[in-house]
Formats: sequence, structure tokens, C-alpha cells
Amino acid sequence: MIEIAGLTKSCGSTRVLDGIDLRVESARIAAVVGPSGAGKSTLARTINLLERPTSGSIVVNGRDLTALQGRELRTARREIGTVFQQANLLRRLTAAQNVALPLRHHGLPEAEIRRRVYELLERVDLLNRASHYPSQLSGGQRQRIAIARGLALRPSVLLSDEATAGLDPDTTASILALLRELRDELQVTILVITHEMDVVRGIADVVARLDRGRIVEQGPVAEVVRRSDSDLSRALLPVPAVAVPAGLDLWQVRYDAARVSPYWLARVGRTVGVDLALLSGLVEESAGSTVGRLTLGVEPRVDVESLRAALVTEGIETEAITRAAVVAERVEDPAA
Ligand SMILES: Nc1ncnc2c1ncn2[C@@H]1O[C@H](COP(=O)(O)OP(=O)(O)OP(=O)(O)O)[C@@H](O)[C@H]1O
Ligand SMILES: [Mg+2]
Repeated sequence: MIEIAGLTKSCGSTRVLDGIDLRVESARIAAVVGPSGAGKSTLARTINLLERPTSGSIVVNGRDLTALQGRELRTARREIGTVFQQANLLRRLTAAQNVALPLRHHGLPEAEIRRRVYELLERVDLLNRASHYPSQLSGGQRQRIAIARGLALRPSVLLSDEATAGLDPDTTASILALLRELRDELQVTILVITHEMDVVRGIADVVARLDRGRIVEQGPVAEVVRRSDSDLSRALLPVPAVAVPAGLDLWQVRYDAARVSPYWLARVGRTVGVDLALLSGLVEESAGSTVGRLTLGVEPRVDVESLRAALVTEGIETEAITRAAVVAERVEDPAA
């Protein structure tokens, strides 16, 4: 388990991290998302103790790592393995030698090093690449080697900073599958920093959004996707752009697909006495719940409160309404 409290990092007069509180249970995967410059990498470097926080605590398995010095600090660093974007492997060393590096650094006996490197390479399915150099490996293989190296000292927390950035979707999926297996088999707590929402959907148990050094929204993914009026929720389940027929109000709605009747749309239309056009939609499985998000086209003559009530009766929640006049303006001037 990792528990970050009141974490602040100032660089000169700028506050890069500003009071971060984040708790990730053992054997859970947390994703941290946020725009470029939000402070994600700084958070990663502070957590793995490459940088000292200005204030706050980072507690791993009950011990505050920020309070440690010297030899205790070096030992504590073993609790946190890190995988960076581009893997950061040493070019002149083979895959096996790269994985062995942290073990050598910590002075483990040679026989133990050989045994662990073998185990780790086997675990990431790359025993047959042990003596290859990084330039002879694919991007995905390099990341697997980096993951093996990150796990070499048997950390309880694995940090990944954009480890799948630049990989193709299949390779990304295989890396995510590997991380999930590691979570389940080794009970390792994983913190994934990413700007890719597919990664969050594919792997995270909990998600936090960082903006200008602060966590502005967080929660279990299964719960976040059900939130209305939430930036994270919209990012996780974006409604596709629609070609808008003139003169219709747009109603963005969402619902739990497991709970609504398949006939809700027709019934709501009958109740309020107007035809409802289905303009775009998405029903997505995310962290065990199936969320539907649709854009309906509605004639402006409809009574807004009656429609809203009819939707609620069917278990459908209204997220946003854009009036026809506003839609027309946007269509005429897409830059606005
Ligand atoms: N040592 C430093 N001195 C001054 N400013 C810094 C320092 N390190 C980071 N920053 C600033 O802190 C902010 C956050 O940087 P960081 O690299 O953590 O962002 P990020 O969220 O990882 O962005 P990206 O998605 O582009 O990787 C940036 O504005 C950066 O310029
Ligand atoms: Mg970064």
C-alpha cells in the first residue's frame, strides 16, 4: 500500500506539486492522468525518491520514506521500482545485464543474481532474448525488460511513467496485461502515469486527475464512469462528435445499461409526445459496469421538465442540454 499525504514540491518559486493526497491499496492499480505540465513526472520522481519533496509524506507499508536518510533511504528505495517511457535501458548491456543492474548495485551474490534474472526474464516471457542488446529488441520487448528490471528488487510498488507511450495498440495491450498479472501474482501496487484514456480503461482500479499540481478529481474507475458533470468521466467515455440536424436541441444522457429497459427511448418519446432522434451513442464496458452515453436530438417544443422526468423514470440521467439556437451558432462558426 502507498499513502501520499500533503505532498508538495516547489522548484524555485513555482509549486509543481501542491498538496497531493493519494492512497492506493495493496495489489491495486492506480492511474494518474492530466495535461502536459500538470506535474505527473514530478510526482513519479518524488515518489521514487529521485527528488525530495518540499513537504508531505510518502508512506509505503507503514513507513514514511521521506523521513529517511543515508543507508536507510537506499534500502527504502528498493520498495519502489520504476519503469519510464522509452525503457531507459543501457545500450551497451544485454537484456539480462540490464535486469541484473539493480541487483549488482545492491551487492547481491552472483548466484542469486543469476537465479533472479532468469526468473524475471521468464516472467516477462523474454528468456529467449536474454543476450540481445536493446537495439535488437522491439519497443514492447524493451518495456518488458524495463518492467523486469523494475521488479528485480521485489518492490512493493511499481511506478510506470508513460511506459506505453508510443507503442502500438496491440503492444500496449500486452504490456497492460502483463502489469495486471503482476498485480495479481506478486500483489504489487502499481501507479501508472499516462495521458492515454485507453490505458486507464484497460487497467486501472482507481484513477486520479492531476491539474496544475493538484488532484482535482479521483475515485474508483467503476464509480467515476457513472459520474455526471465530471471531466474524468467525459474523458473516459467520450461521446462521439455528431452531425447535428438543424433545429433540434441536443440532450446528452447517460445510464447504466444493466438497469434500463431496452424500450426506454420509445417509451419516453410516447410519454412526452415528441419524437426523439438518436444522434450518437456509445455503450461501454468499463471496470465491470456498462455505461451508455447518448446524444438525443429533441424538438425544442418539448417541455423540458416533463422530458427530464420521463427520462428519470426510466433510469436515464440528463448530463447536458444544448439548445438548438446555440447548436446553430456552433455549426456556423466551428472555431467559436
Ligand atoms: N526542476 C524543475 N525546476 C523548475 N520547474 C520544473 C522542474 N521540474 C518540473 N518543473 C515544471 O513543473 C511542471 C510539471 O512538470 P512535469 O514534467 O512533472 O509534467 P508532466 O505532467 O509530467 O507533463 P508531461 O505530460 O508533458 O510529461 C512543468 O511546468 C515543469 O516545467
Ligand atoms: Mg511527464
